[in-house]
Amino acid sequence: MIAHLRHLTRLAGRGHNRLASSASTSYLIDQPEYSFLKELGLERNNPGVYSGHWQGRGPTITSYDPGTGQAIAKVRQGNVQELQQTIGLGVEAYKQWRQVPAPVRGEIVRQIGDELRKYKEPLGKLVSLEVGKIYSEGQGEVQEFIDICDYAVGLSRIYSGQLINSERADHTILEAWRPLGLVGVISAYNFPNAVFGWNAAIALTTGNSVLWKGAPSTPLVSVATTKIVAEVLRRNNLPPVVTLCQGGTDVGQSLVGDKRVNLVSFTGSCKTGQDVGVEVQRRFGKVILELGGNNALIIDSSANVKMALDAALFGCIGTSGQRCTTTRRIIVHEQLHDQFVTSLVAKYKQLIPRIGHQLDAQTLVGPVHTQQNVDNYRTTIEEAKALGGTVAFGGKVLERSGYYVEPTVITGLAHDASVVHRETFAPIVYVLKAKNVDEAIAWNNEVEQGLSSAIFTEDISQAFKWIGARGSDCGIVNINTTTNGAEIGGAFGGEKATGGGRESGSDAWKQYCKRATITVNHSGELACAQGVVFNVE
Ligand code: UN1
Repeated sequence: MIAHLRHLTRLAGRGHNRLASSASTSYLIDQPEYSFLKELGLERNNPGVYSGHWQGRGPTITSYDPGTGQAIAKVRQGNVQELQQTIGLGVEAYKQWRQVPAPVRGEIVRQIGDELRKYKEPLGKLVSLEVGKIYSEGQGEVQEFIDICDYAVGLSRIYSGQLINSERADHTILEAWRPLGLVGVISAYNFPNAVFGWNAAIALTTGNSVLWKGAPSTPLVSVATTKIVAEVLRRNNLPPVVTLCQGGTDVGQSLVGDKRVNLVSFTGSCKTGQDVGVEVQRRFGKVILELGGNNALIIDSSANVKMALDAALFGCIGTSGQRCTTTRRIIVHEQLHDQFVTSLVAKYKQLIPRIGHQLDAQTLVGPVHTQQNVDNYRTTIEEAKALGGTVAFGGKVLERSGYYVEPTVITGLAHDASVVHRETFAPIVYVLKAKNVDEAIAWNNEVEQGLSSAIFTEDISQAFKWIGARGSDCGIVNINTTTNGAEIGGAFGGEKATGGGRESGSDAWKQYCKRATITVNHSGELACAQGVVFNVE
């Protein structure tokens, strides 16, 4: 199939202009090579709202393959009225779901994981096709959802509160975790499946219902994923504890402002995330914000450079530089700097023949997602040059159908240059020369964002400095591995302008719960705390 698609891509690339002009009648979903889309239950025109049944009365949008610019299929989004109805149904579903014992909820999540296993191949391929990420990354993304389901099944039997010693005789303090209600998940285009997955699996297990709004440019992944989940709900006669409302800004704003949505988990830009945070706080709702990153990879003088080069390659270029955890700055010890740049550029060169359509088996570097990413790439490179930066490799937009740019290495900029401090969602990395690890840590920490970071060192004292209070101020603080590709077992998220939220593993489940502190008096007499005496007769 991959070989077939490769052939198809070449043809599509050549004929793009012709295809674009007849776009109204030509959709990839109608072509036999894309039959995997039909396996997922998709059609040429799909309803984008699910609340126990499918509908969609808002504007219709077309989803495009970033690798060719061709239309894949269409989705009829929801409008604000449909969103509001969907919220109402999600709240009703929650009232039943919270009564279900947690391990039984876990069993439903286990079934979702199993259903995803059945569809991993076509769903992963759709993720690749719609986002632009390569085949193994699309498969890996669905795997991440499957993994968090497994995690959630275990969690359903072990998440618990505690018993706390009371200062009063024959009193006991308990701490219990209860569901919040309806959890809204607003996800971004770059991880259109896994981000919903790790929010939904944990939120459902802890007794919440979930309302999802996926990115407007990846609506087919939202629809296909929800169909898989909906089948499990149907089979178990459950109310719509998972709902979907694809839509534009009006739908997003309405979701964020609605008091019935007890928690909003938002993944996206720092700017929008800040607005979401303020709006939700205005109504005393809860938020989980997973926003931008400006992730640095530090190469200490003692580093295993061979390994560091591999980490840089995947960190900077994987997903065409469109992960929140992508390596955007490499801070190299001055003794190693020049040789490191030479070796890195040599590696980048080898990737040029591996730029191609995301579903081509040979491809390691797929397209970026939209024209907007291409424009941002171009603007950033122009600005970097104007500021005195040297393009050590790449720097050009490729003249072919689809959104292809050269992975780019820029050297010679100041550590605090405007472009270096800005997150551009494209495969551009700045290599900076530092005197020592202390300086590198200071530069790591001086940006607004605080998501991911990594050091390559064989020196134990530098390693422990890095993970200590004087070290990286990020949520993810790696040693001798890349900044990206975090596993589901740890808490995922970051500090400062990254928003402070944590998702996925560790005790991130607590964010989907409210905490009840319960004092039980089993003494037979009333005694006030702190020894206060307050009684008459
Ligand atoms: C994101 O880029 O928003 O660590 C999520 C990683 C993935 C998740 C990235 N597990 O790169």
